Amino acid sequence: MDRERLADPEETPQEQELERTLRPRSLATFVGQPALREQLAIFIEAARSRGEPLDHVLLAGPPGLGKTTLAYIIAQEMGVNISTTSGPALERKADMAAILTHLEEGDVLFIDEIHRLNRAIEEILYPAMEDFQIDIVVGQGPSARTIRLELPRFTLIGATTRSGLITTPLRDRFGFSHRLDYYSVEDLKLIVRRSADILGVEIDEEGAHQLALRSRGTPRIANRLLRRVRDFAQVRHQGKITGEIALEALRLFEVDDEGLDRVDREILNLILHKFDGGPVGLSTLAVAIGEEEGTIEDVYEPYLLQRGFLMRTPRGRVLTRLGYEHCGVTPPARPHSPRPGTLFE
Ligand SMILES: Nc1ncnc2c1ncn2[C@@H]1O[C@H](COP(=O)(O)OP(=O)(O)OP(=O)(O)O)[C@@H](O)[C@H]1O
Ligand SMILES: [Mg+2]
Repeated sequence: MDRERLADPEETPQEQELERTLRPRSLATFVGQPALREQLAIFIEAARSRGEPLDHVLLAGPPGLGKTTLAYIIAQEMGVNISTTSGPALERKADMAAILTHLEEGDVLFIDEIHRLNRAIEEILYPAMEDFQIDIVVGQGPSARTIRLELPRFTLIGATTRSGLITTPLRDRFGFSHRLDYYSVEDLKLIVRRSADILGVEIDEEGAHQLALRSRGTPRIANRLLRRVRDFAQVRHQGKITGEIALEALRLFEVDDEGLDRVDREILNLILHKFDGGPVGLSTLAVAIGEEEGTIEDVYEPYLLQRGFLMRTPRGRVLTRLGYEHCGVTPPARPHSPRPGTLFE
């Protein structure tokens, strides 16, 4: 199966540079997530007026919704430096200690994929977050001793796509935590128009609307569709993106009306035809599709669940009535219906 996906919410390495140029740099230019924006604005203003560092922040939610963007915005609004690292990149306790001791008062330390920190490193974070100190062991064997280091008061911002995997002691040490939601079509339209402005692409109302509808609630995908449709408009038309041109391009790229791409449809069709609509266990599904279980859970499934095409049950994944219909098949007499509130963890 070809894994290059237009609808993949994860960022590709080639995308990083472009994403940086499209990233909003202030709370005012960050589109959508109104509750989160308002809470953050108050939280930041209060800390600033007290002249204190911001309390630790945990941002959860599916890929491409703006967690990294917000971490940079928070540092920017607080007027402090930001250092970034990620859970899987930290292998030894000494790496974490070195990063912590190099921070300056008020700095933001951004840890992406914080649910993937190993336990020993996570345990260094507890006293660091709570009391701004760490204990490090120097020397080896009988001459080893522990010394305590004072740290500057910093702000930890953790991002995770899997909030259910964060341990309770870590979670409890964040003063502010928020889960980002998928964006509305209206918000995605604003994001598409804003990005089009930055990229110097002409797009009309209907063009932006058609892209927003198929972006799966995800700004990263909205931006990616915009860039691909821009290429199409440039090569096949005069460059301007209209509703009609957007639809023509998306058909060519095999993105359907619900924003599902070929891989998504293959997953649904596989469950339908090979497993009789399910239930099928995650591990079996992973083998059938030729992907890792974690990738299916983090990357492919969330949107299919969110849209109610697929459902998780204790016995495995099953196709819902909507799922059957999307595959163009009449559902059996009693198909499964989605149960709300079971989307992620
Ligand atoms: N609220 C927003 N307004 C405008 N653009 C946004 C917004 N949120 C995200 N974006 C755009 O989407 C892109 C992806 O966002 P970002 O990298 O912050 O997602 P993420 O949640 O960190 O994803 P991941 O879980 O993969 O790390 C950004 O480059 C930015 O251009
Ligand atoms: Mg990120």
